[in-house]
Amino acid sequence: MTERSYAPYSGVLVGASGVTDDGRLVRGCNVENASYGVTLCAECGLVSDLASSGGGRLVAVAIVAGDGRPLAPCGRCRQLLYEHGGPALLVDGGEDAPPTTLGDLLPGAFGPGDVEARAGR
Ligand code: THU
Repeated sequence: MTERSYAPYSGVLVGASGVTDDGRLVRGCNVENASYGVTLCAECGLVSDLASSGGGRLVAVAIVAGDGRPLAPCGRCRQLLYEHGGPALLVDGGEDAPPTTLGDLLPGAFGPGDVEARAGR
C-alpha cells in the first residue's frame, strides 16, 4: 500500500494492511495535507476500510514504511487499532523480529469496556 501513499510533505510513505476475523484483507495508506495536523495516518485508512467493507474484528496488522520494513504505529493509531482489535491484535514485526501484540504496544489501554463501566448508565 505504500505505493498509494500521499506524502509530499514528510516523504514518509506508510502502508497498513490487516486481516479480519472473517478473513478479509483491509488496508490503508497515509494521506498528508498542507495543514500538517490534519494528516491521515495509514491506520486511519485501514480502519475506514474495515468499517466500510463490513466491520468485524482485526486479528493481525502490518504497518510498513516505503522500504517495506515495519514502522511503529503512532500513539493515536495504537488507540484506533485497539478499538477494533483489542490487546490480542497481532502486529507484524517484519523479517527480523517476531510479531508483537497491541497489548504490548499500548499497555493499560482505555477501551470500549471502560466507557461502558464508567458511563453511569
Ligand atoms: N504515519 C502513519 O501513517 N502512521 C503512523 O503510525 C505513524 C506516522 C505517517 C503520518 C505522516 O504522513 C508520516 O507518517 C510522517 O509522520
